[in-house]
Amino acid sequence: MVKWRCLICQYIHVGDTPPDICPVCSAGKDKFVRVEEEGGNDSDSGEKNTIKEKSPRKGLYSLLTDTLTKHHAHPISVHFPNGVIPIAVVFVIIAFFMNNRSLMEASYYNTIVVLLSLPVVLFTGFVEWQKKYNGALTKFFIIKIICGIIVFISSTGLVVWYYFQPEIFSSTQAGRWLYLLVNIFMLVGAGIAGFIGGKLVFKD
Ligand SMILES: [Fe+2]
Repeated sequence: MVKWRCLICQYIHVGDTPPDICPVCSAGKDKFVRVEEEGGNDSDSGEKNTIKEKSPRKGLYSLLTDTLTKHHAHPISVHFPNGVIPIAVVFVIIAFFMNNRSLMEASYYNTIVVLLSLPVVLFTGFVEWQKKYNGALTKFFIIKIICGIIVFISSTGLVVWYYFQPEIFSSTQAGRWLYLLVNIFMLVGAGIAGFIGGKLVFKD
């Protein structure tokens, strides 16, 4: 059997031919190169087979982004919103069905925490995508970016909405089900982004 390496995410596939689509990052077949077993370099029919590092930019920005990537700042930071979002959504659901003001308020503050964490999460995600995956725009990365945007827009909308309509949990309020739906969107967006992130980290 032959080993093939994905140039985008470094996933190793074993088989006579490379997979049509990388199961980890969804890169196409053309992004796979054959791995030589005897200590030689990978082969890719003449094309240079390593991901070309962009010439490092000198200065504080480069130092910062290198450090963030080296120490896995994105997976670390993303656990803050991803840990809080399910709680915020569960609180909203209970608040809606039990007409509970306290849980609604708790959800609001949790969503503020989500919103405050997002600049770091989105920035470190962008940096890691650029540095580790060369900014590859495969289907999985596009989905991940869209999910990040959904979480940002949803959490911003929910915080602003609650600020102007704190009685939204009450059964007499118009738009309450839309408010709940936006919460679900936020949760699903974070879940899908986390699922793809897990594939990229664990390569399975
Ligand atoms: Fe890949």
